[in-house]
Amino acid sequence: MKIVMLGAPGAGKGTQALNIAKEYGIPHISTGDIFRANIKNQTELGMKAKEYMDKGALVPDEVTIGMLLSRIEEDDCKNGFVLDGFPRTIPQADSLKKALSDKNTKIDFAVDIEVPDEDIINRMSGRRACTKCGGTYHIVFNPPKQEGICDNCGSELVQRADDKPETVLERLKTYHELTQPLIDFYKQENVLVEVDGTKKPSEVLEDILGALK
Ligand code: AP5
Repeated sequence: MKIVMLGAPGAGKGTQALNIAKEYGIPHISTGDIFRANIKNQTELGMKAKEYMDKGALVPDEVTIGMLLSRIEEDDCKNGFVLDGFPRTIPQADSLKKALSDKNTKIDFAVDIEVPDEDIINRMSGRRACTKCGGTYHIVFNPPKQEGICDNCGSELVQRADDKPETVLERLKTYHELTQPLIDFYKQENVLVEVDGTKKPSEVLEDILGALK
């Protein structure tokens, strides 16, 4: 199963991608997590990505496309993957389509999680993320069992640098300008699944899994 997650920043892509990946036994690949791991390790890629991420802008396609296409060549992607945060621009979606079609395959589902902008700011201020396994929590809506500790791997949870309200507003602007057109792109490919992301996380998951069957 090859799945793409769509939706505004904070719509719940990461939360649900992790659940879907577990359900289907396929890897969850988040370009945001890959960039954050590179920033933490102070790699050249990380330093370049940070410049853009801190402003709420997209990392340039020249950097992102090659990185993602080589990731999905890895062995663990043989049976599929859940892409969280890629594609984010039409050129990214075109490159992915071409790379898959060269192997006679394609995206099976693009899951669009719909949440109005008004709800996003609240969600972001309460988000806590695991720097090790990518687990995502919310201090009110989806708290970990033990405060500040990841349920999945026991590591410390942190607040993301780009979750400041002013950066979130920029990220939303970037989303509407460059990423929202992908909804039509995948509608034309006949693989679009739209779900209401304002429901409880468990209900959103149920709706997604129901639609993927
Ligand atoms: P990235 O890490 O992908 O961030 P994003 O798309 O902005 O999405 P988020 O991770 O912020 O939100 P999410 O939808 O995953 O929501 P979550 O599940 O965490 O990208 C960061 C940056 O990297 C970008 O700005 C860009 O600079 C760069 N980048 C990444 N990919 C790129 C690409 N392809 N090209 C160029 N640049 C790229 O949920 C949010 C919060 O809400 C959590 O606290 C969660 O617990 C809570 N929550 C989840 N579901 C619910 C619910 N149903 N009800 C209530 N609360 C909920």
